[in-house]
This record gives sequence, structure tokens and C-alpha cells, in this order.
Amino acid sequence: MTATSPGEPAARIPLVIDTDTAADDCFALLVGLIDPRADLRAVTIVAGNVGFDQQVHNALLTMQLAGRRSPVFTGARRPLERDWVDAVDVHGDGVGGLRLAGPAEPDGDDAVGELIRLSREHDGELVVVAIGPLTNLALAVRRDPEFAHRVRRLLVMGGSVNARGNITPAAEYNVYVDPEAADTVVRAGFPDVVIVSWDPLTLRDAVFDAARIERIAELDTELARFFVRANAATFAFDAAAGLGGSTHPDSLTAALALDPSLALETRRYRLDVETAGELTRGATVFDWRADDPNVTVVERADGERFYAHLRGLLASR
Ligand code: BDR
Ligand code: CA
Repeated sequence: MTATSPGEPAARIPLVIDTDTAADDCFALLVGLIDPRADLRAVTIVAGNVGFDQQVHNALLTMQLAGRRSPVFTGARRPLERDWVDAVDVHGDGVGGLRLAGPAEPDGDDAVGELIRLSREHDGELVVVAIGPLTNLALAVRRDPEFAHRVRRLLVMGGSVNARGNITPAAEYNVYVDPEAADTVVRAGFPDVVIVSWDPLTLRDAVFDAARIERIAELDTELARFFVRANAATFAFDAAAGLGGSTHPDSLTAALALDPSLALETRRYRLDVETAGELTRGATVFDWRADDPNVTVVERADGERFYAHLRGLLASR
């Protein structure tokens, strides 16, 4: 990192967000677009939550509403080996029925090439925030095995730490959808992989209950209104599932990329991904005893400060 003198603003973090853009993915994009510590160099889209073209639309809409534009690249339209599995039941269309106010198009269709190009341009500096299935990242590793070594830090929203899943009892959605991709990524030799889990981290530290949503609604800014509307389907689904409110793992992951001090406790583990099991497809096995750890797990996050930060960004426009 370049050193800064007192009074000089710190260098912004070159960032890519790889996303299956719906609901909380949109809010993660807002973090990358608005937080002054971020230099959002690209958004890469991967098959996941909702229809692929809807996801592209949602990313472009989020940028339109934020009044900021980063390059958008489309990537894998399906997992490496499996059929696509959506989460439309959780997110609806991911933006509460809103539509782009005017024409907007992605900037390219080679997300994998762009990830590799940016890793060269920012060799040893690039931070990648992966908040969907890991297909694009796995393809980047396959196309250029040195890609992993050039990325400074990879933050992954995925898996549960030997705990419950959400799409099956054993697996979290992002890993379940493309377990082969997740397996490729955790073995690729990224120097610094940070895991934001579904259970326990998200379920404890990244749930917004009705009172929190109400305090966002009270802001009555364009972005707060967008948040409430795009979040409504997830809120209803998660609340009905007994989670106490809507879940925000993706925006927490983006916030952690810019402010690692939001992680109050971390621990190193060896992570392996189940690709063969019938009942356990996509289960994440975290070995706390291994002497060859490959990931750092965020065990506890400052949920209150994360919420306040996101609310502050939504207040800004
Ligand atoms: C993850 O799956 C998606 O539905 C969310 O955006 C998040 O990335 C939670 O399992
Ligand atoms: Ca996501």
C-alpha cells in the first residue's frame, strides 16, 4: 500500500464486486459505490439469485439510483457443471418491481477477463468481494492460475461454519449453487480469503428487524426508499422463516472489505467443500484443528456499527 502523510486522504481500495444482484447484493453495491474508501473498479455478474438479465438490470438500476456508475461486466450464466438454482422465492425480482428510468447497458460480456485484467492492473492491491456463487472466480482461476496470487484479499459470502444451511439443511445458497466452483476457489491459493458465513455470523450480526427498517424508512431519501422497497420480499421471507428480520450478509461483506475493524473476532480454518454428497451437496466443512488453514472466518462482527454505516450511506442521497 502507498504510505500517506498526516492530513492526506488514504488511498482508496481498488475493489471488484462479483454479484448475483438482488436485494442485499444491491445494498452491497451501494456500499462499494458510495463509501469514500472504495474505488469500485468493476461489478461482475454471475448466475444466482434471480434471472441473469434481471440481475444485470438490478445492478444498473442501483447505479442509476446512486448517481454513480462503475463498469458492469456479465459473466457466467450458469454454474460450472450443475443446473442453475434460483432464489426468486426469497428475493422476488430483487428490486421490488422498480425499473430503470432510462437506457443502460453493461460495459462488456467477459467478466472473467475483466477480473484477470484488474488483478494485473492492481497486482497485490485488488480486493474482490464475492457475494454470489463462485463460478466467475473459479473460471478466472482456471483461465489464469496466477490470478489468485495477484489478488490482495478475497472476501466470500458463503457457507455456514459447521452449522445450518438455508437452501438445504446442510448448505448455504451461494456454495450450494456451484459447489465445484467453491471447491476450485478455496484450493486456488488466494493469499487471504475471508469468509462471511450464513450461520452463525449473518444470523446473529446482520439481521435488520422491523425497528431498524423503520429507522431507514424515516430517512425518506431516494436510496432509503429504494432499500425498503427492494428489501421487502426478503424481509417477508426471512421473518416468516423466524429469523427476526431481513438478512444482510452481502452488504456486511462489502463493508468488511473497506473496514476490517468491523470484524470483532476472527479465526483461521481449513475449509473444504462437499461436492459429492447427496444430502450434503455444498456443505462447508471448517476444520479448526488443521495445520494448513486456507481461510479466515469472521466469527463475530460489530452489527450495530455495520447497520449505522449502511444507514448513513442511505441517508446521503
Ligand atoms: C446468499 O445467497 C443470496 O441469496 C444472498 O444474496 C446471499 O449472497 C445468502 O445465502
Ligand atoms: Ca448474493
